[in-house]
Amino acid sequence: MGVSADLKVLAALVRGMNHDRHSSHAERVQRFYAPQAAAYDQFRERLLHGRQALIAALPCAPGNHIVELGSGTGRNLLFFDDRLAHAARVDLVDLCPALLEVARERHAHRPNVRLFLGDATRYRPVHPVDCVYFSYSLSMIPDWQAAIANALRMLKPGGTLGVVDFHLPEGMRQPARTFLRRWFGHDGVRLSDEQPRFLRERVDTVTFSALQGPIPYLPLIRAPYYLFIGRKRVADPAQ
Ligand SMILES: C[S@@+](CC[C@H](N)C(=O)[O-])C[C@H]1O[C@@H](n2cnc3c(N)ncnc32)[C@H](O)[C@@H]1O
Repeated sequence: MGVSADLKVLAALVRGMNHDRHSSHAERVQRFYAPQAAAYDQFRERLLHGRQALIAALPCAPGNHIVELGSGTGRNLLFFDDRLAHAARVDLVDLCPALLEVARERHAHRPNVRLFLGDATRYRPVHPVDCVYFSYSLSMIPDWQAAIANALRMLKPGGTLGVVDFHLPEGMRQPARTFLRRWFGHDGVRLSDEQPRFLRERVDTVTFSALQGPIPYLPLIRAPYYLFIGRKRVADPAQ
């Protein structure tokens, strides 16, 4: 792997996500990720910060049912370590077949992990679940509000919602704001300053932190990201 794998990813990032109006979101995502699927994890290890911290803070008690919406290659499950084997069931949901195939090979030996090709705004397990999380997927989902609403609907009252993602921090000035929005937007990542506020209005906040991390090959730029953990309100008629 090494540098040649990084070059594949960099080529895909430079090409960007094609936003032509004739293809669906699912088609665009598959076209963007398919050429870099095998190299995805190596590169994102240095770009998608806070994933390990998110997973460490999520509940994964024996018998729990957990859902990751926009799970990509399923890499995040490895952060659960030994706790994973005790979960009753973990659902990995993504609409990109190329990345789900990597997840399928990675987790084929785990009977409690199930993969679903589907949209995060629509996937719904039969029974309410203990924990739902998004790791760098909300910023790629056009209707991220619908994805959060869907996550809340599938959670048990008191269940945990976790998010780690890029964002535009409150108070970030121009021209950094416009630069980051356009630069991430080229690859289908919609940076927003609304997500943390939207989450805090709907869920009881357990943790929120706004942080920054390095970007591979770009020593002068830092990627702003946030980590949110909340609990579904016990009596919420809207959910
Ligand atoms: C940056 S990747 C993050 C993958 C993984 N969660 C991680 O932390 O490595 C974003 C993922 O969101 C998925 N995605 C984008 N829109 C989606 C949607 N509407 N429903 C489900 N998955 C979606 C993409 O296919 C991709 O796997």
